[in-house]
Amino acid sequence: MAECLILAIETSCDETAASVYSNARGVCSNSVCSQILLHQSYGGVVPEIASRSHLNTINTVVTQALEQAGVALQEIAAIGVVNKPGLPGSLLVGVCFAKAIASCLRKPLVAVDHVEGHIFSSFLEQQVPFPHVCLMASGGNTALYMVYDFGQYQMLGTTLDDAAGEAFDKVAKLIGLAYPGGPILEQLAAQVNFTDVLCYPRNKQKTLDFSFSGLKTAVLYDVVARGFYDLEARTFIRELSDNDKRQISSSLLNCIADVFVERLTRAYCVHRLIKAVTFVGGVASNYFLREQVRAWANLHGLPFFVPSRQYCTDNAAMAAFVANYRFTQGRLATQLLDIN
Ligand code: KG4
Repeated sequence: MAECLILAIETSCDETAASVYSNARGVCSNSVCSQILLHQSYGGVVPEIASRSHLNTINTVVTQALEQAGVALQEIAAIGVVNKPGLPGSLLVGVCFAKAIASCLRKPLVAVDHVEGHIFSSFLEQQVPFPHVCLMASGGNTALYMVYDFGQYQMLGTTLDDAAGEAFDKVAKLIGLAYPGGPILEQLAAQVNFTDVLCYPRNKQKTLDFSFSGLKTAVLYDVVARGFYDLEARTFIRELSDNDKRQISSSLLNCIADVFVERLTRAYCVHRLIKAVTFVGGVASNYFLREQVRAWANLHGLPFFVPSRQYCTDNAAMAAFVANYRFTQGRLATQLLDIN
């Protein structure tokens, strides 16, 4: 089999990323330029800052990916690019850049769905049997999928309001922590051994959907009830102590872990034929949540797969993997490719 090299570009949110993937050798390079520092003082991603930053860095990031892989642009078989979902201004930068390369070098263009990239990110390091259930939790999405084959998956449940990562980020902002909140909350929770002191309410749904917006409100009412926050004046009366922050972080993690496990349990009741469980997306970087999902999988005798942390948060390697099988399947885009 002749080696086929794919260059993929990802600019859907606040990471400018490029990767070279080989069908024979796997990931050859994974270059990511994070914009976290640019957005931190705003407590979240500012779309215009994001797209301007993509514009400034995309050339360097793509060049770096090719250099790391030791590959010349001419050797690339196809250009993959994430065209949905994401911030429109950010997606446009990646799509225009990819179209320009594809057009100049007369290379095929392959469109990649960012969510599909996450769903198949566990394949970057391991072979996962089909069919399996995938729990995807990121900043913009929390969803459950049945995955039947490459590019063939069905959504079982999705985000009704705030995604899990969004809940982490919003609670972190509320209690005065920096953006993104997830990693900081994890560190604080570890300091109290991940105990669930505050027992926030678990969101119950009849469907397999996820709703975490109530959790932020539960935390808000908790800090109000304990005399820290004046709801009418919308200001803090007194500072939360470090221990309060640890307890809130840890209780929040327990609540989200329980919801994940509850949805997986119900999904498994209906889909008994699954052969494995995967946990993907930025939130899957969280060791506590990984262990909770792993424990659930072990209990049901199911193999568990989670990507290494570099492939949980946004990256272009997962996009290159998807672009590779779409290219093989002949599912090409044209120069009319739009963003969604
Ligand atoms: O997948 P991702 O990089 O971007 C999206 O596609 O949304 O996920 C970013 C989200 C953020 O909300 C961030 O707080 C969360 O993932 N996150 C974490 C951790 N690391 C990142 N959440 C919990 N624990 C972590 N260690």
